[in-house]
Amino acid sequence: MDARQVTPAGADLLVASLHGSLVDPALESMNFLNEIAMRYPDAVSFASGRPCEEFFDVALLHGYLDTYCRYLAAERGYSQEQVRRLLFQYGRTKGIVHELIARNLALDEQITADPESVVVTVGCQEAMFCVLRALRRDARDVLLCVSPAYVGLTGAARLADMDVWPVASGPLGVDTGDLAAQCRRARAAGLRPRACYVMPDFANPTGVSLSVPLRRELLDRAAEEDILLLEDNPYGLFHDGEQAPTLKALDTRRQVVYLGSFAKTGFPGARVGYVVADQRVSGPDGEVMLLADYLSRIKSMLTVNTSPVAQALVGGKLLEHGCRLTAANRREYAVYRRNRGHMLDGLASRFPPEAGPARAVSWNAPRGGFFVVVTVPFAADDAILEYSASEHGVLWTPMSHFYESGAALPQLRLACSQLTADQIDTGLDRFAGLVREVCAGGQRLTAAGA
Ligand SMILES: Cc1ncc(COP(=O)(O)O)c(C=O)c1O
Repeated sequence: MDARQVTPAGADLLVASLHGSLVDPALESMNFLNEIAMRYPDAVSFASGRPCEEFFDVALLHGYLDTYCRYLAAERGYSQEQVRRLLFQYGRTKGIVHELIARNLALDEQITADPESVVVTVGCQEAMFCVLRALRRDARDVLLCVSPAYVGLTGAARLADMDVWPVASGPLGVDTGDLAAQCRRARAAGLRPRACYVMPDFANPTGVSLSVPLRRELLDRAAEEDILLLEDNPYGLFHDGEQAPTLKALDTRRQVVYLGSFAKTGFPGARVGYVVADQRVSGPDGEVMLLADYLSRIKSMLTVNTSPVAQALVGGKLLEHGCRLTAANRREYAVYRRNRGHMLDGLASRFPPEAGPARAVSWNAPRGGFFVVVTVPFAADDAILEYSASEHGVLWTPMSHFYESGAALPQLRLACSQLTADQIDTGLDRFAGLVREVCAGGQRLTAAGA
C-alpha cells in the first residue's frame, strides 16, 4: 500500500502501512487493562499480578549494590577500577550475574545449568522475544502454546512474526493428546512446529500446576515430536509447601529452554530476567555453539546488554540470601499464602452453594502462585469490566484476554498478590455486588450502556 496516497488529512502515517502487531489484539490487551486501571485509581484491583510492595525499601537497593561490589572485590578479585568499569561501562552481552543465577537454580530448583548457557535479559520479556526470533526462520515456523496463555508471550510472538497455535490446557494444565494433534495438523499444513510454550507451575492466568507424571509425559511427547519446550516459571517458588521439579530439572535431552524472571522473586523495577539455553547448535562450518550464544547475538542488536547496575542489584539480593530466592522471599511467601487463603475463604463465604442467583459462581483453588480463576453465569467481557470499575469499584481481568480468539467467556482472573486482607474483603464485597446485579438482570448495566 502507498501510505502517501491514502493518508487522511491531519495524519502523517497510516497504521495499516506499519507492522501488523500495532493493531493486534494481543498488544492492545495490555494497554486496555493498564488504561482502565489508571482511569479508576480508587477501584480495588484484582487485575494486577504485581508483587506485594510491603517490603520495598530504597535502603535495600543501596545495600544490594554494596554487597555486589564487595563480592566482586573479595570473591572475584576485582580492583576498584574494574568494579567501576563493570558498573559504568557497556558490558558482556550475556550478562554479569550468570554465575549467581546458575548457583540459584541449583539451590532452589535443582537445575544444573552451565553459567555459559545463561543469557541475562531485560526481564523475561526480552528472553521470550530473543528465543522466538531465533526459532522463526520463516513463515512455516510456528509456536505451540498452552492456552490460555500469558499475553506477554503472545505479544512477543507477534513482534517476531511467529504464528501461535493454541494447545488445550484441559483440567490438568496441558492436554498432551492435543499437543500431538496440533503438531500433526501443523505439519499436514506444511508448517514446522518448533516449540511449545508452557507454564508448569501456577500458570498465569489459570493458576494450574502440572503433576509430576504429566511433566514427564510432556517431556516425552516433546521428544517424540522433536520440538523444544519453552518453560516459563515466574511463580514456581510461591507454593504452599510442595514444590514439583521444573521441566528443566527433569530435562535429560536438552529439550527445555528455561525462561526466568526476577520480577516476582526479586523486584520488577530491576527489569532483569534470563534464559537458560543449553541446546547445542551446529554452525555452517560445523562449529557447535550453545543456543545461548546465538540468542546473545540477537540481544546485542536489541538492548546491547542488560543494565549492569540492575544486574548488580539483583546479584546483591541473591548474595545476601546465599543465592536462595526461597530464603529471600520468606515474608512474601507468607503474604501470598495468607492472601490466597483469604480470597478463597472470602469467595466461599460470599458465594455459598445454596445462594440464590449467584449459585453458579465457582472457582479453582491453586496451591500457590498469584491467580484464581472464577467462573460466573454471564460473559465476563470488557464492557462488564468497565461497568464493574465505574459502578462497583472493583477490577479483574476477563479470561478472554488470554485466548487467541478473544471471544467473551464466563470466566475471569483474580489476583491478590498486591492487596491487604482488608482490601480483599472490600474488593470481594464489591465483586459480589456486581455478580448479584448482573445475575438479577443487569438492568442498570443496560441502562448505563456499558
Ligand atoms: C507468565 C509470566 N512470564 C513472565 C513474567 C515476567 O516478565 P518480566 O520478567 O519481563 O517482568 C510474568 C509477569 O507478569 C508472567 O506472568
